[in-house]
Amino acid sequence: MHILHISAECYPIAKVGGLADVVGALPKYQNRIGNAAAVMMPYYKTAYVQKATTTVDFCHTLVMHKKTYLSEVLKVQDTSLGYSLYLVRIQGLTDRKEVYGYEDDAMRFMAFQRVALQWVLQQKEFPDVVHCHDHHTGLVPFMMSRCEDFDLLKMIPTVLSIHNAQYQGQFSHELGWMLPRFRESDLGLLDWSGMINPLAAAIKCAWRVNTVSPSYMEELKQKANGLEWLLNHEKNKCVGILNGIDAETWDPNSDSYLIKKYSIRNRVSGRKANKEALCKEFELDASKPLFGFIGRLVWEKGADILPEIIDNALQQYDINIILLGSGSKEVEGQLEALKSKYKGSYNAYIGYEERMSHQVYAGADFLLMPSRVEPCGLNQMYSLRYGCMPIVRSTGGLKDTVIDLGEDGFGICHNETTVEDVVYSIGRAVTHFKDQKGFKEIQKTMMQLDHSWENSAKMYVSLYKQLKS
Ligand code: ADP
Ligand code: GLC
Repeated sequence: MHILHISAECYPIAKVGGLADVVGALPKYQNRIGNAAAVMMPYYKTAYVQKATTTVDFCHTLVMHKKTYLSEVLKVQDTSLGYSLYLVRIQGLTDRKEVYGYEDDAMRFMAFQRVALQWVLQQKEFPDVVHCHDHHTGLVPFMMSRCEDFDLLKMIPTVLSIHNAQYQGQFSHELGWMLPRFRESDLGLLDWSGMINPLAAAIKCAWRVNTVSPSYMEELKQKANGLEWLLNHEKNKCVGILNGIDAETWDPNSDSYLIKKYSIRNRVSGRKANKEALCKEFELDASKPLFGFIGRLVWEKGADILPEIIDNALQQYDINIILLGSGSKEVEGQLEALKSKYKGSYNAYIGYEERMSHQVYAGADFLLMPSRVEPCGLNQMYSLRYGCMPIVRSTGGLKDTVIDLGEDGFGICHNETTVEDVVYSIGRAVTHFKDQKGFKEIQKTMMQLDHSWENSAKMYVSLYKQLKS
């Protein structure tokens, strides 16, 4: 099958979070089972893009509200990706350093989606399915089915993956001119609560919708930032498919970011060397149990309670904590401030640093994920693969991937995103850590789990096939 993924992020080209990891891996695994999957994303000025060798595949002059934007689609020459990659460059709109965070983001992603579809129109052979990811590409299914400019694409099935329903990309109807012409009677398909809502529009217009874990699908029917009714109404076309991980990028036995590579066999010495290096870098004590946190410092991740968790846990237990993340300035400030109070037992790197994240999975004993909302979560799966025990709030994908030690599992689960629940779980971890023999055995179990994309890639392909028949 010819599969076209359209996304705002894709690893290693541009990554903000797990969306990039998924879009950078799923097509590769789909190709391995006999498909031809490609990725189309905006051209940003990231390090990868600046170095990439490209050829111009298509040029287009986009007209929006009488203004013209010169655009081109560049094909990247990089066979190591495992899929074809196209970058949509729109002068003055996409060619910036950051992926998100600009005032005109709605306009940037609108323009991107329009040029992407113009490119599809020019193809000799149309894709068998167009797969969109999150709200940034949520207007694609509407445009393909309702805008006369794209009439020829009407019969191509569309799939929407919801990676995060918290963000919906709403903008005012006054900006409706950004869309190509459509019939006024179709306006309702774009609207949700008086705004143009790209995520809602995609849920209404895509042929199929999936969330990135089965539990998240169920949770969204109860709590979806205002879209609960819509998701219940559309439930027959919705399904949950658990993300996988790129077991090649995330393999402690070949991970070049690590101080020492290791496999299940030499996990104890390998993890020890990585822990020691990590502790040296962060001035921590490698003989104590080490707890890590990696992630965006936002409410969904429970970041607001992290400072209190750290404070309470370090007063109660003889442990070390290391944190890697960025986001809310207030939380960043609190986490920085704790450094001097707990010098030698707590340290943090406020920022984004790919190398360090790998080192934390390989060196920490436990990974904290007190998420309030976690559609899937990749951290816990990376953590398991590296033999680092996840401590998670049972929600969304965390519920689907982590089984508590008390139920013959390999992780620690708690019910609420509260300081009490997390600190209690840290206490359980400390007790468990004392039994080093048992702990090392469980590390083996964790590392043996198979979360690679193979299964899920097949599930997506069979979903597409249902749409073709
Ligand atoms: P989300 O997409 O909601 O942020 P996921 O668990 O799906 O959460 O994916 C997060 C990804 O981003 C993982 O690959 C994780 O290692 C990475 N990550 C998050 N924060 C940082 C950071 N500060 N530095 C390096 N990697 C990070
Ligand atoms: C989102 C979610 C995260 C998920 C990722 C990839 O960013 O917050 O839980 O793992 O997308 O699907």
